[in-house]
Amino acid sequence: MKMGSCFSFLFSNRYRKSMHYAFFGIMVLVILIASFPSVCSASERSTLGLPALNIPLENPMTKEKIALGEKIFFDNRLSIDGTISCSSCHQPELSFADGKALAEGVYKRQGTRNAPTVLNAAYNTTQFWDGRRPSLETQSLDPFINPKEHGLANLDELIKIVRQDKDYRQIFSEVFGVSSNEIRPEHIGKALAAFQRTLITGDSPFDRFAFNGEKNAISESAKRGWKLFTGAAQCANCHTVDNKSAIFSDNQFHSLNVGWKNLEKALPSITTRLVSAKERGDNIDEIILSDEDVAELGYFVVTLKPGDIGKFRTPSLRNVALTAPYMHDGSVATLEDAVEWETYFRSWKTEKDPVQPLVLTPGEKADLVAFLKSLTSTNATAFPTPTNRKNIE
Ligand code: HEC
Ligand code: HEC
Repeated sequence: MKMGSCFSFLFSNRYRKSMHYAFFGIMVLVILIASFPSVCSASERSTLGLPALNIPLENPMTKEKIALGEKIFFDNRLSIDGTISCSSCHQPELSFADGKALAEGVYKRQGTRNAPTVLNAAYNTTQFWDGRRPSLETQSLDPFINPKEHGLANLDELIKIVRQDKDYRQIFSEVFGVSSNEIRPEHIGKALAAFQRTLITGDSPFDRFAFNGEKNAISESAKRGWKLFTGAAQCANCHTVDNKSAIFSDNQFHSLNVGWKNLEKALPSITTRLVSAKERGDNIDEIILSDEDVAELGYFVVTLKPGDIGKFRTPSLRNVALTAPYMHDGSVATLEDAVEWETYFRSWKTEKDPVQPLVLTPGEKADLVAFLKSLTSTNATAFPTPTNRKNIE
């Protein structure tokens, strides 16, 4: 809610009261004015703790383009059986994740990866757990033609559905200045990217504590957890925090050996399978979400360097309390288990990443969990969507 709309809300109705109700009206005004700072400042501060966002020059943000991206994001018709949209797996009320270990697309087909939240995905310097796409613009088109997601045969099918719709034809012409037969997949990618760049959330209790001087915004336990996080436990080596902002990711790739058990047994044949598929020019996105062994190769898919096998991009930890289960394969059920896993991994393997072995007491682990829970943004599950917009704005 912008300042302007707060004021119009204050002034539009109340002054029409008759003299008869003057006293009552004044009382209501007093109450509204008293609550004004908290009502309005909450969303104005929603970026508290976040760095400035990079908007690519070739895809400027406009209100109309964002609205188009939103319409596409929530449109079930853009799938093979008319049941799946981006929002099926990135659900606003589940902070744009899906609550499942592995995502499920058309015909309840299960993929190989956990659906990450798209909140703050705008800050990722690559997209997907393995970083196989360099931008939101390019990432956005993959789900439409993945058999485990929207399931369309190809991007021509997508364009066909869009062109058949009178509303879409008009909006594409307004936003991109194109006629119906000039609508291209790139336009859809751009609109979806612009919309997702509005899905940013800061202003968690931690942000108010660290970046707004509110000393009591988090519990004593969370404060101890914060100290461990940046200190002895070295979590911030990868889940980075700056002086004025924090995205809790270095945007680099590391191995925690999640899923290593599955990989080890047949590594040569799995890597060969991937390399030949790449040489043939097969759809790598489809293979990753269909072949659970190839999915474990992680960043190797991008670089083909043996040292990158099993590495995944450090996920941001913002809103992490709302996005269980965890890790690229959804194999870790709770936040407590995720902290256990991080500790365990550090106790037996360090040569790939220069971090020290870690031993934590149960109390320290609980403090880390309390800290992670303080990273939940006020608006993480309350984004305006096409269906609830009227109630929220
Ligand atoms: C069937 C469930 C499903 C659908 C439908 C789906 N996604 Fe996803 N999304 C996922 C999964 C699973 C991943 C992780 C895949 C991977 O890393 O290999 C993902 C990853 C992403 C990412 C990368 C986030 C990150 O942190 O790396 C973005 C952005 C995204 N999806 C946006 C979209 C958009 C836009 C659409 C609609 C065009 C969409 N998704 C449709 C399940 C889904
Ligand atoms: C060497 C870099 C590194 C360090 C140090 C590190 N992490 Fe992570 N963290 C990662 C990576 C990479 C993943 C994703 C691993 C995967 O999916 O296979 C991850 C995943 C997580 C997750 C799950 C997030 C999700 O959305 O699935 C949590 C929670 C987490 N880390 C917390 C911590 C805590 C707490 C510490 C300190 C005790 C820590 N991490 C230290 C790199 C690191």
